[in-house]
Amino acid sequence: MIDNYQLLEYAKEASHNAYAPYSNFKVGACALYDSGNYYKGCNVENSSYGLSLCAERNALSTAIAAGEQGKLIKLAVFSENTKMCTPCGACRQWIAEFSKGHNVEVIMESQDSHCAIYSINELLPLGFNL
Ligand code: THU
Repeated sequence: MIDNYQLLEYAKEASHNAYAPYSNFKVGACALYDSGNYYKGCNVENSSYGLSLCAERNALSTAIAAGEQGKLIKLAVFSENTKMCTPCGACRQWIAEFSKGHNVEVIMESQDSHCAIYSINELLPLGFNL
């Protein structure tokens, strides 16, 4: 199973593919499943700004589209623009969707260039759930 540093490295690689001509804020994400499979995503912006897609939701959608049947266990988020690139509120709700019955870990680059790890329950307490 790949470790947190490797997962962040994959998120970094994905960030280089970001389409972010409006914000110039390139983000990458990598979602790891208990199957051992992982899926990368980057942000994809649009001239109608509100339609922009975040890296995290891109990675999770890519996993779904690939037919991944495992449990999401970790998701790394990375941007060269900032340390501690934390998921936005919408992405937290998306991660929570795939965290039902367990507690997904979100990995970010810490201020001292190591891994900062927060659970989705810490990042989204009392999230909406059906
Ligand atoms: N962005 C992400 O990809 N993930 C986040 O969690 C926060 C924001 C993107 C959206 C937009 O393309 C750019 O970063 C600036 O907000």
